Amino acid sequence: MPDGNGSLQHILSIESLSLDQVHAIFKLAETYTQPHHTSQYRNLLKNLTVINLFLEESTRTRTSFELAAKRLGADVINIAPALTSLKKGESLRDTIQTLHAMSMHVLVVRHPESGAADFISRHVKAAVINAGDGTHEHPTQALLDTFTIMHKKGRISGLNIAICGDILHSRVARSNIILLGKMGAKLRLVGPKTLLPNTFKKPHISLHYQLENALENADVVMMLRLQQERMQGSFIPSLQEYQQFFGLKRSYLKKANPDVIIMHPGPMNRGVEIDSDIADDPQYSVILEQVQMGVAVRMACLRLLTKNQHATTDNPTLDKIQAGDHYA
Ligand code: NCD
Repeated sequence: MPDGNGSLQHILSIESLSLDQVHAIFKLAETYTQPHHTSQYRNLLKNLTVINLFLEESTRTRTSFELAAKRLGADVINIAPALTSLKKGESLRDTIQTLHAMSMHVLVVRHPESGAADFISRHVKAAVINAGDGTHEHPTQALLDTFTIMHKKGRISGLNIAICGDILHSRVARSNIILLGKMGAKLRLVGPKTLLPNTFKKPHISLHYQLENALENADVVMMLRLQQERMQGSFIPSLQEYQQFFGLKRSYLKKANPDVIIMHPGPMNRGVEIDSDIADDPQYSVILEQVQMGVAVRMACLRLLTKNQHATTDNPTLDKIQAGDHYA
């Protein structure tokens, strides 16, 4: 999302990023994949504060943001649901206002409700990064997935990319569908009809209700977890049947291109959406490379968002309150 000068102000969704901004993130992330450049970037965020507000469980995304911020020299504070006063009945608005009074520069937010990051961004002066909001979007996951594919394949345009699983509830799927589509990939979405409504169909997107045949000439296969915590009611007859039709097995890969890569954003449910022998096979699996690339991509996001910010003792929240803004 650009400010008046065309630079990045927040990263709330892939939908709101231009391709120029995406390429700027990738270009900078590329420099952060070179370990020997460490000394050149370790003070870029010195005296800036990054707060990771994670109101939903996370292992890799929170750690990845923490590491990215620390590698750039920022002061980092992590806040998990059990540690917040939200548990004591405080409103999200009051929590955010309290955090802002501590002069944060970047707020990384994960929240169970779609739209939460956007809401917060309208009430703080800090740059906001959406680290996953409900079933809506997870923009930095799509950026790191796309960056990983580009590293492996050298391009996105024209690739056959299958995304399989709980497309309906997955914010990772939604952000990837938008970004990979914008960059010219041919997408095959695979899942049970209950988790793959017709509304996803577009000229560059085909829908498939069985995994094996959808892998014909695939260059990339992205497997997703069933988002049981977001399902109200039953969307699949049983885990066994789901595994039978939509679990990735080695034999299915015969249909794909020989240099197919297998991706998963994690956390994986081994034996459900993916068999262990494929998840751990370095010939196909780039799952750990996704984690590695994630740190570089998030460093680039943090750097671009703070380029024009300077460490300050001024309190931006107080300015805002004095200006009569009432935090609707
Ligand atoms: C994903 C998420 O939280 O949306 N995980 C992640 O960020 N790596 C995917 C998931 O939870 O299934």
